[in-house]
Amino acid sequence: MNLHTHIVGIGGYLPERILSNEELSTMVDTSDEWIRERTGITQRHILAENQQTSDLAAEAAKQALDDAGISIDDIDALVVATTTPDMIFPSTASIVQYKLGGKDFPAWDIQAVCSGFVYGLAQVDGMMRSGMFKRVLLIGAESMSRIVDWTDRNTCVLFGDGAGAVVLEAKEETGENTGIIGSVLHCDGSYRNLLMAAHKHDGNAPGKQMDFRVDAAGVAAVEMKGNEVFRVAVTKLSEVVGEVLEKYEMSKMDVDWLIPHQANIRILKATAKKMQMSEDRMAITVNQHANTSSASVPLALNHLYRQGKFEVGQVLLLEAFAGGFAWGANLVRWSKQ
Ligand code: ACO
Repeated sequence: MNLHTHIVGIGGYLPERILSNEELSTMVDTSDEWIRERTGITQRHILAENQQTSDLAAEAAKQALDDAGISIDDIDALVVATTTPDMIFPSTASIVQYKLGGKDFPAWDIQAVCSGFVYGLAQVDGMMRSGMFKRVLLIGAESMSRIVDWTDRNTCVLFGDGAGAVVLEAKEETGENTGIIGSVLHCDGSYRNLLMAAHKHDGNAPGKQMDFRVDAAGVAAVEMKGNEVFRVAVTKLSEVVGEVLEKYEMSKMDVDWLIPHQANIRILKATAKKMQMSEDRMAITVNQHANTSSASVPLALNHLYRQGKFEVGQVLLLEAFAGGFAWGANLVRWSKQ
């Protein structure tokens, strides 16, 4: 059997509450003009007090299942990529499984920050090609608003909440190389201190009080050396895009759609330029919902999909860069009618 993994359903969810640049500029010393110019962001969505990452994930998953025309009973594994789990344990995936009414099939989380979905797609694709699962729900979901320090203008303007999901199905390959063509992944932990949200605690000796609270007051909050991250991101994304194309013997001319992680419009434009792709062949959603970390790539995919942009046989290139630094790319030949 020569199995390939296909995207057969897509969904997305953004919480109702919108926080505009104008409103944000009443909270910290910033302006709509600065945020737009430096990042392209105009607004972000913020989850409600009674919502958690699993709620956002479940909404996106419902839409993806609906789009695939199947129910949770047809799924045999569920993976949630998240940096902002509901709890330390159990996994957010197990909570989402419960909220969707699923039972018994395996469910687990994957953590690669903003590259979580790209990592997840590579991981699940490998498992599905081996025949381990027939249908998998892969979700990227985040409540970044819970881990940003709302008094730090360097970071709080950049992030938002949301979730995106895909239903993946393993099918016997009949002719052309369709579905997920392949992936490349990287991590370089020597950069770990440039972008992080560290637990603030007083040692971990037995009997010592650990403080694992993550809250809006910034007990554990995103810290970033923005311009250094920017510089490395542009370089590594260009490299990884070239690498994945070379690995699968394709050229940049073969790529129809670029689906990049949405962190900063300037990074998106730099990658598109390197690929010699016009900006109307690239998903741009950062303006509407800022950086939603692991939800960013599936939300960008959903954005173009809902506009009916993809045609069977077209090639999509997904890429992301994240804290770690962890980065990667997936190539997909679109096969959904
Ligand atoms: N409003 C107004 N001024 C601001 C703001 C703000 N919100 N934030 C920073 N500034 C100021 C700084 O204090 C600094 O002032 P100074 O010159 O007086 O010291 C000035 O603006 C310039 O700051 P820089 O950090 O040099 O600005 P830069 O042009 O680099 O833009 C930004 C900052 C938007 C963060 C950019 O560096 C960036 O996008 N970095 C990459 C982020 C990224 O890609 N993340 C990817 C992964 S995310 C993840 O994995 C969770």
